Amino acid sequence: GIEPTWTMDNLVETMSREIREKVGDDRVILALSGGVDSSVVAALGARAIGRQMTCVFINHGLLRKGEPEQVEEVFTKQFDVDFIHVHAEDRYAALLDGVTEPEEKRRIIGTQFWKEFFAVAQQLDGVKYLAQGTIYPDIIESGARKTGGKASTIKSHHNLIPFPEGVHFDLIEPLDHFFKDEVRELGLALGLPEHIVYRQPFPGPGLAIRIIGAVSPEKLEILKNADAIVREELDAYNARLFEATGERNSEHSCWQYFAVLPDIKSVGVMGDERTYQRPVIIRAVESSDAMTADWAKLPYEVLGKISSRIVAEVPGVNRVAYDITSKPPATIEWE
Ligand code: XMP
Repeated sequence: GIEPTWTMDNLVETMSREIREKVGDDRVILALSGGVDSSVVAALGARAIGRQMTCVFINHGLLRKGEPEQVEEVFTKQFDVDFIHVHAEDRYAALLDGVTEPEEKRRIIGTQFWKEFFAVAQQLDGVKYLAQGTIYPDIIESGARKTGGKASTIKSHHNLIPFPEGVHFDLIEPLDHFFKDEVRELGLALGLPEHIVYRQPFPGPGLAIRIIGAVSPEKLEILKNADAIVREELDAYNARLFEATGERNSEHSCWQYFAVLPDIKSVGVMGDERTYQRPVIIRAVESSDAMTADWAKLPYEVLGKISSRIVAEVPGVNRVAYDITSKPPATIEWE
């Protein structure tokens, strides 16, 4: 038979060889977020140069329940890289204390991220390269978010890294010709677990923009627990659809789903007691690219189960609501 000219495995080999040749004996640093793209770069780096690559995981305390532990597990037990877990939770909590404005939260979180990252980078000797999980759409997309920025020209992604004075790294961006599905295939070929490869989109500022108003440890705890239930039930719902249709993102599967914690309380009743506690909002959308999204027409049984589990299992919550707005006119996130 005729041999195919390339397979995922020999693509991995080629990419690893290219990285080895470029890096030589130098060291590489990577900001590992736990998202698909940076995780694939980390796995590729492990294959190509092993411990010459340092993966810096900045834990801002705003990831979903269980995520920091999962990232650490994968990149300490499964892949052989130099892994640094930066516990920045308290510093972020202090910086975010009392901050209510969404763009202000984003700015604080983004600025602190690079501060934390470069503080580690500057302590390491002989780092010449900074690896990034930039993918092709990152380069061609406009940078407009909810910042009121104009969706205009092609963004020069490279200018976005705020190197401190006197600091410079050469960039390695092994995924810059790839689309997301190709990145996922590469991730599978590298042996990354499915929970990373098929991870749903998650905003850089994390749960801070899913807590309306000021972030506090108490609200974070409620949101993490409620969100874990939403994900558990909707992961299972998606898995049932996948089994039935053979398609991972089939017509009615949820694309992004999470809990939101608004800044209000409402009255409820438990036993003979009146309660005055927090509501949780379920957000679940069908989409393919986040530019537009439909609210997911979830079966009532699924919504009902999520609701009863949240009020039964999460202390401080006495009501659950479902967001039935599409994008536009709403956005996927609440902030
Ligand atoms: P919206 O809320 O604008 O979100 O409909 C569209 C997609 O972008 C994600 N998102 C963000 N991602 N930093 C990110 O990295 C952000 O500040 C941010 N805000 C929104 C959102 O989760 C959705 O997938």
